[in-house]
Amino acid sequence: MKKIFFVIITIILLSGATYLTDKLFLKTYSDPKISSKNKITKKSSVKNDNSQTTTPQKSLPDTSSDVVLVNKTHKLSKNYIPSDLRTVKVKFASYAASNVRKMRANAANAAEGLFSAAKTDGITLLGVSCYRPYSYQEEVYTAKVKKDGKTEADKYVAEPGSSEHQSGLAMDLLSTEYTDLDDGFAKTKAYEWLKQNCAKYGFIIRYPKEKISITKYDFEPWHIRYVGTAAAQDIMQKGLTLEEYLGITD
Ligand code: DAL
Ligand code: ZN
Repeated sequence: MKKIFFVIITIILLSGATYLTDKLFLKTYSDPKISSKNKITKKSSVKNDNSQTTTPQKSLPDTSSDVVLVNKTHKLSKNYIPSDLRTVKVKFASYAASNVRKMRANAANAAEGLFSAAKTDGITLLGVSCYRPYSYQEEVYTAKVKKDGKTEADKYVAEPGSSEHQSGLAMDLLSTEYTDLDDGFAKTKAYEWLKQNCAKYGFIIRYPKEKISITKYDFEPWHIRYVGTAAAQDIMQKGLTLEEYLGITD
């Protein structure tokens, strides 16, 4: 009898201990304070790199690659400045600001080749805007929003962080036959030449007329982007955007 009583007491004590252990473990594991702290940690690590973003960030662009994707959902850090910027030695439009005439070394070499080949074919290209620091893009964007409203601004000007100009791989250009930064440039001989020849130098027309739904920008015949010759030839021959080439159309 004593033995049975002892066994029953032992079972009761063991069950109680198991119940308490489970309860304590689950409480710790699902403690809202702990899970919300984890969430805050994750959020703030993204925020540090992209503190000015207003659209969800998909991933941080790999700036070591010539085909780096920078767009509305793939933004550069506010602090990103390419390490190999240099002044592009080409003719610039008279109104082109002196502090936006730089590109990364490979892109600058390629741009000089492009301008020189155009010249040989009787076309005088004019640089307008190349590398733009985050703060410069912020000024351009804010001014455009003030002038035309956010909806209109977002069709043509990238929010700071989402501009390819900050990557040092993009250039806005026109020609002596047409010096306004609007889609009238698309009707020029220079634009035709550019479409036919830019890929040989590693550039693509980045925002084509028929791809607005993918790039999320209106047609910009003046904006070219350096991606390297192999990618550029593939993209231009197949009529792709950089997003389609990379398979990232989110
Ligand atoms: N105009 C292009 C989209 C830019 O601002 O980077
Ligand atoms: Zn541009």
